[in-house]
Amino acid sequence: MFRFAQVFRQLIRSVSLLSVITISSVQAADKIDLIIDTDPGADDVVALLMALASPEQLNVRAITTVAGNVRLDKTSRNARLAREWAGREDVPVYAGAPKPLVRSPIYAENIHGKEGLTGVPIHEPAKGLESINAVNYLIDTLRAAKPGSVTIAMLGPQTNLALALTQAPDITRGIKEVVVMGGAHFNGGNITPVAEFNIYADPHAADVVLKSGVKLTYVPLDVTHKILTSEARMKQIAALGNTAGKLVGGILNEYVKGDMEHYGLPGGPVHDASVIAYLLNPELFTGRDVNMVVDTREGPTFGQTIVDWYNTLNQPKNVFWIEGGDAQGFFDLLTSRLGRLK
Ligand code: BDR
Ligand code: CA
Repeated sequence: MFRFAQVFRQLIRSVSLLSVITISSVQAADKIDLIIDTDPGADDVVALLMALASPEQLNVRAITTVAGNVRLDKTSRNARLAREWAGREDVPVYAGAPKPLVRSPIYAENIHGKEGLTGVPIHEPAKGLESINAVNYLIDTLRAAKPGSVTIAMLGPQTNLALALTQAPDITRGIKEVVVMGGAHFNGGNITPVAEFNIYADPHAADVVLKSGVKLTYVPLDVTHKILTSEARMKQIAALGNTAGKLVGGILNEYVKGDMEHYGLPGGPVHDASVIAYLLNPELFTGRDVNMVVDTREGPTFGQTIVDWYNTLNQPKNVFWIEGGDAQGFFDLLTSRLGRLK
């Protein structure tokens, strides 16, 4: 009888050990190995906080910065600030391209302010940048990565990845997917009547990435303009009562003003954070595989994303284009992730 009980206990122990191993290896396999390429920027900072608060789902290997909303020194400083606010100084920040591939630089200081962030006090963060350039970091990391293992969240102009792909086309092997905040189709652009800012700021880079053949998901204005702040949603964030909630409240209250006025919307979009929400819970979004081209010709359609939504030309599908999103689901997810921070 004693021997039976001993064997039985041992069996139970090995079964539970096995299930611990199985669960943790499933979790490790499910975790997204992520590089965030970004030009903070108000909505980029919100996206960074959301991502850095989700370590059980996102293994943020690095943040790489690019010139976009403001100059590179400021986007890099703001990325380091977001990292500090999230208490995630373990995540390295690499600065990349100071200007677009071909076109002359443009910035969005009218929307994001001179510092790239308004509504919150700004300081020089204690922890600095890594010493190597973001483009070299991308090449080295993607070359060393397991095939198809690294996801890139692309929250600004695509200059860094385009430079890396041009110098080292073989790095596509390491990439699982690039999820881009960019483009516009159904309701027109936000920087010209037809172009969205991130694509317009470096259309040649977007074209290089598109033609590289990497798996691409686009989170365009079509969906981000459906996921708007409201008084109730801002209250939800304020009710957290923590520093992260206060920071995001301060940032968003200022940031959404421009779009609300320009478009006559009841609230404002938080564009880049939708990319992170998509990675955390793709079920919040709907879209379809389409053929898409980027217009790099000078003229009124410069930077336009032309999307064959109805498959009129029967061309190969090269992008998963997101068009619908669960707005309340997005804000619930954002609020709960911010609630994890101090
Ligand atoms: C995009 O442009 C930038 O101003 C925002 O950060 C976002 O990435 C929206 O068009
Ligand atoms: Ca951005």
